[in-house]
Amino acid sequence: MPRPSHGRTLRTTAAMALGVASLGLAACQTSEPEPTTASPDTPDAAVAVLAEAGPAGAHPGETIYAQACASCHDQPELTRSPSKETLQAMNFQFLNFSLTEGKMKVQGAALSAEERGAVISYLTGRDTSSLDQWAEAMMCPADRREVDLSGEATVTTFGFTRANARELSAEQAGLTAAELADMEIAWSIAFPDATTMRSQAAIVGHNAFLPVADAGAMYAFDLSDPADPCVQWIYNTPGGAPLRTSASYGVVADGTPLLVFSGLDSTVHAVDARTGEAVWTKGVGVYSYSLTTGTPTVLADRVIVPVAQYEISVAADNSTLCCTNHGYVLSLDPATGDQQWRYDTMEDAVHQRDRGDGQSLMGPSGA
Ligand code: HEC
Repeated sequence: MPRPSHGRTLRTTAAMALGVASLGLAACQTSEPEPTTASPDTPDAAVAVLAEAGPAGAHPGETIYAQACASCHDQPELTRSPSKETLQAMNFQFLNFSLTEGKMKVQGAALSAEERGAVISYLTGRDTSSLDQWAEAMMCPADRREVDLSGEATVTTFGFTRANARELSAEQAGLTAAELADMEIAWSIAFPDATTMRSQAAIVGHNAFLPVADAGAMYAFDLSDPADPCVQWIYNTPGGAPLRTSASYGVVADGTPLLVFSGLDSTVHAVDARTGEAVWTKGVGVYSYSLTTGTPTVLADRVIVPVAQYEISVAADNSTLCCTNHGYVLSLDPATGDQQWRYDTMEDAVHQRDRGDGQSLMGPSGA
């Protein structure tokens, strides 16, 4: 939960920089709630709400499993399908690929993205019960709800700027190098249902736009009050699908201030920074193990999206025909997500030789 600093009061901008960094620490710290007078819309109210929350209710994906999957997967012998326990041991990407591109494509096509995400989230054991209460308690009061993008965009992609120097000036950071020796935590926030913090926020003026991978959500934080951050909007991915990359920000040709980031399921999300509404989402995985790890870059007339692969994780498994995946870079239209071009790191894999058991060793692959 956000907590006011007890030490010397840092200048506004210094506390902001500190605060953003502390988001990264927040997930591994437990902090006792401070005695405060909680009003319904102060963040401290979240402590009380979560403490009162009872045991998790039915998972939204449970009904979808019962309706769309159980007829076969609860009778694995009869239907020659993997059992529910086997499905539960699979990871998010595999389940998602299976339902969108793989063997369960037909069954997956009968579901909306929201339902698909929910059933995968159910099978992988995600607990979504506390997300809504947390969000409600963290929202800004009415007079701080509006996103103000008039300030300088200091962190617009993973390298901070397109120059990729990962550096802020003392003026941008509100801190001098000498002050770094004497810092105190201004506040920290713990996110429900998240055990890791992997993504960097985009920072525009006193706003931080932070993707939280496990929560499957992007949060717009108003940091204008250095002791009391609050949430202006939350963008939830369809079905709560986990995110993966950091956030990228840019104002595109038609004037839309766009935030772009990618998910663990290789879906790119383009969201209006003023409202948190999706402008478009687009699946960009081409191969069985495509993975969006690199943060996209937003330019006026294109969004550049790097796509990696993790086929190496199955390369040693004899039942897999390996290796056929490689990486690529896409240029997408910022208004629609339509592909403008694709650059492949290498040509498509073909049979190279017998690997010794009558099966093909494929290549080239990797990169
Ligand atoms: C009509 C029966 C049927 C239904 C309904 C069904 N499945 Fe399957 N599923 C199968 C069979 C059969 C296989 C094994 C296919 C194979 O290995 O060739 C399978 C395989 C899978 C696999 C493994 C795919 C792979 O590449 O090895 C996953 C994951 C899966 N199902 C998930 C689901 C989910 C989630 C649902 C519900 C949304 C669902 N299935 C609905 C019959 C079904």
